[in-house]
Amino acid sequence: MSPASGASTTAERVEALRREIRAHDHRYYVLDDPSITDAEYDRLLRELERLERENPELADPDSPTCRVGGRAAEGFASVRHDVPMLSLANAFNTDEVAEFDRRVRDLLDLESIQYTAEPKLDGLAISLRYRDGRLLRAATRGDGQTGEDVTANVRTIGAVPLRLDPRAPGELEVRGEIYMTRSGFDALNARLAAADERCFVNPRNAAAGSLRQLDPAVTAQRPLRFFAYSAVVEADLATSQFESLQQLAALGFPVSSMVRRVESLDGLLGYFDELQAARAELDFDIDGVVYKVDNLEQQRELGFVSRSPRWALAHKFPAQEEMTRLERIDVQVGRTGKLTPVARLEPVFVGGATVTNATLHNLDEVRRRDVRPGDIVIVRRAGDVIPEVVRSVPERRERELPEWQLPETCPECGSRIEQVEGQADARCSGGLVCPAQRKRALEHFAARAAMDIEGLGTRLIDQLVERELVHDPADLYRLDAATLAGLERMGEKSAANLVAAIERSREVELGRLLFALGIREVGEVGARALARHFGSLDALMAADVEALEQVEDVGPVVAGHIHEFFGEPRNRAVIQRLLDNGVRWRAETAAQRDPTQLPLAGKVYVLTGSLETMPRSQARKRLEALGARVTGSVSKNTSAVIAGSEPGSKLERARELNIDVLDESGLQALLQHPGN
Ligand code: IVH
Repeated sequence: MSPASGASTTAERVEALRREIRAHDHRYYVLDDPSITDAEYDRLLRELERLERENPELADPDSPTCRVGGRAAEGFASVRHDVPMLSLANAFNTDEVAEFDRRVRDLLDLESIQYTAEPKLDGLAISLRYRDGRLLRAATRGDGQTGEDVTANVRTIGAVPLRLDPRAPGELEVRGEIYMTRSGFDALNARLAAADERCFVNPRNAAAGSLRQLDPAVTAQRPLRFFAYSAVVEADLATSQFESLQQLAALGFPVSSMVRRVESLDGLLGYFDELQAARAELDFDIDGVVYKVDNLEQQRELGFVSRSPRWALAHKFPAQEEMTRLERIDVQVGRTGKLTPVARLEPVFVGGATVTNATLHNLDEVRRRDVRPGDIVIVRRAGDVIPEVVRSVPERRERELPEWQLPETCPECGSRIEQVEGQADARCSGGLVCPAQRKRALEHFAARAAMDIEGLGTRLIDQLVERELVHDPADLYRLDAATLAGLERMGEKSAANLVAAIERSREVELGRLLFALGIREVGEVGARALARHFGSLDALMAADVEALEQVEDVGPVVAGHIHEFFGEPRNRAVIQRLLDNGVRWRAETAAQRDPTQLPLAGKVYVLTGSLETMPRSQARKRLEALGARVTGSVSKNTSAVIAGSEPGSKLERARELNIDVLDESGLQALLQHPGN
């Protein structure tokens, strides 16, 4: 894939790699516009490092492997670093970490080592010089020896203290990372897009671009943050890395709350797992963790090798962005007929899994990201988020590629495709004639928040529709165990379980039933509001648009959708057959009608870790049934965090914000006596 791969001899390969890396350095550091991912860059650099190691006669002091980073750009004064700003050796797997720990133990002649483990923030390194407690100068890393003076810009960053606690030493240099939050990055890109300006590729590039603005007033508008990770002082602040971070915090510097002291290889790997699990929930990017020998005396003993310290190691997470080839674009038809372009990719390992499909949202997005079949594209998979194609890399286009077009008819049922002027989404006009729409409608009907039919998943629904056993939700209530047991992947036991689950779903709250019907733009909350307002299905079905608009949060558009839905004879027929087949709705209880009366109304809980007595989803349901809200992240509005075993960073955050923490017995007590 890389242009360097045609080289025939090792010397040529080395030269080709150097040329290629230099070109990427230029794009990255000077233009702030990289055309390859960090992971690809790392691979090129590592290959070059390996070839140079194996062939010392090819050494060259100007090789990119001998440099730490980019070079100082024009426009800012140069700053020479008294103590060079080095980089970290990388590890990409457990073996390399074990090797690091073994080397450290050998060199220090110790059985076991204490380390400080820290998140590896994905921003840019900064050096802050303080004299007599005042910020004197801020400089980027540059090539490690010489950076750029960005003091005026850094002064605009709220997280960087301009004055320190009086206990600060007279001369102090603090190093750390400037970064941009993900939410800040999204907002910034939205602002840039609205002004028809170029967007940034990722938060790190946005942070770099923002810091290197010639006008500090522009930097001041950018959501930049800072975390300190080391102090360079004559007399050490402390005897260990961990304590020196505590000292920095005491002097007024932001220090990550995820820093920990750990012991030996097990401790390192445990920390890695913990942060990898917490990663998706953070509002900033981390690309790995950093292990540092804790004791500063031991650090000095270990010293440096070429451009990195022997006492530290960056353990990288699998990359969340990779490049691969887009083979073709298919369209998927959703429940309401909405067409979603889906990228079919050459398999690529990203974010810890192999990805072959990724969403492209809609035609506008395909155009905006300039994605064409045949392109090399950037694929992102972060945590459990659905993989997506971020953009194409037009620089890698070998020839002109035609733009992708929407099909003229639905690929599932051949019906006409409707695209309303000014709306991003195109739709299949086939309605329930379209098998794809029918399948998705059934999936929605059976979903947890709707009729909650356990065990009725996508594969089964596909078979039921394809074999014409089920045309609409009402048919589900006529299925018997014998029919189900004849389907693929179904035994008698699972068939019996499914029949029982369908049976259980016959008795349902009105709000759930309304949500299950899949009326356009009527979500879970809206459906419950309709149920509360009208109290019965008949009353709702009889309501005109005006009456519908009386309901909380229902505007003319949604009222129109609801009215249209119940006006459609086919829908009325399905509802009648549901009732005929024994589905019974019940009105919400008085407390549900007025949720402010519920015992946990107004309370907000966060669940973390695993519970012994019930799955988290059930704990959530029970709390919500008592009127509480259950959210995914801890804030000052959180009433309490409920922590099971192996809780994640949420517990940490709760402690930071001084928020109550309940264990499992606390949860039981709360559920049993919510009024106390
Ligand atoms: S220590 C001598 N700690 O990673 C090593 N670096 O290649 C000094 N980084 O760009 C770096 N988080 O800015 C250290 N907790 C952390 C870090 C960290 C991010 C960055 C650093 C540099 C790169 C090291």
